[in-house]
Amino acid sequence: MEKNIGVIHGDCSSPEFVAQALRVLDAVAEKYGHTWHYTDIAMGGEAIDKYGDPLPQSELDKANSMDSVLLGSIGGPKWEGLPGPQRPEKGLLRLRAGMKLYTNNRPSHIWPQLADASPLKPSIIEKGVDFVILRELTGGIYFGEHRTDADPVTGEKTACDTMTYSEHEIERIARAGFALAMKRRKKLCCVDKANVLDTSRLWRAVMHRVKEDYPEVEYSEMFVDNASMQLMRDPAQFDVIVTENMFGDILTDEASQVTGSIGMCPSSSLGDGTRGLYEPIGGSAPNSAGLDRVNPIACILSAAMMLRNSFDLNEEAEAIEKAVGAVLDRGLRTRDIMAEGCTLVGCTGMGDAILEELAKL
Ligand code: IPM
Ligand code: MG
Repeated sequence: MEKNIGVIHGDCSSPEFVAQALRVLDAVAEKYGHTWHYTDIAMGGEAIDKYGDPLPQSELDKANSMDSVLLGSIGGPKWEGLPGPQRPEKGLLRLRAGMKLYTNNRPSHIWPQLADASPLKPSIIEKGVDFVILRELTGGIYFGEHRTDADPVTGEKTACDTMTYSEHEIERIARAGFALAMKRRKKLCCVDKANVLDTSRLWRAVMHRVKEDYPEVEYSEMFVDNASMQLMRDPAQFDVIVTENMFGDILTDEASQVTGSIGMCPSSSLGDGTRGLYEPIGGSAPNSAGLDRVNPIACILSAAMMLRNSFDLNEEAEAIEKAVGAVLDRGLRTRDIMAEGCTLVGCTGMGDAILEELAKL
């Protein structure tokens, strides 16, 4: 297979872990006889430095001409003082919207080797933690109107951010959620704030319509405050959670801690087609930049998700996941998942070990 892969190296520590993911992709290409053509795309802080814009149209056009895009993480203290529309994060939001990627899939499961890294009691995680948060990615408060006005007399400022959802936007993610549940344990939980928000009440109405087409799926609903508590109390109850953009942002960080480290959590974002954007859910770890110590596994697992979800290469994706498991079995750990009796490795060291394990498969 021959594919064009866009690569956004990202900011701060990000190029370090993206480099490891590319080494793994290269090893897979060689082992299974594929060819990847990489094209660098600038987005975030890198694009601000180069072009004065976190995502110039030319870079978005490049992304849309690829078969898929691998992204590290963007942002850092250097760009924090910039006004909203010029911040690195705005580049990411424009990329998601510009690639029409409305479904963000963020899986959480406990690697048995890392059970100790989870802050939850063994009695809770022994029940089996394996769920996916499907986050709506191109609507809601992230994309509504953002405004700050000053009172002409007193000068007091008022800010507003608007949350908007159309039935169409809800329906397409609802369908993606039910389809995903059908491939898994056939349970779907809609997480919202329907006791307060109109947008959430519309979500529920659309969910009720769509669920008629998926009679085998056990459907439930939960308010987001309760869901954040249930994720700690009994995460094993969840299979697929479908939720709006900002609730999904918050709950996926919480979910990453259930599994032990955000450094282990990949994600995929898809729209109607197979072109996706694959990124670790953690940040660019500015404090670790240049120190070769960040965990590259989330980015490497994101590359595996790309092979499976965009290129339909299941065997290759599984090989990467197995290699990661084998390295964890050997007791190798980056700083974020370090435990007693294990061996500390850096970002490159972790990449080296995963390549060794891949070669053995
Ligand atoms: C994420 C991040 C982004 C988001 C930021 C960087 C804009 O937190 O992917 O979860 O809020 O979507
Ligand atoms: Mg987030």
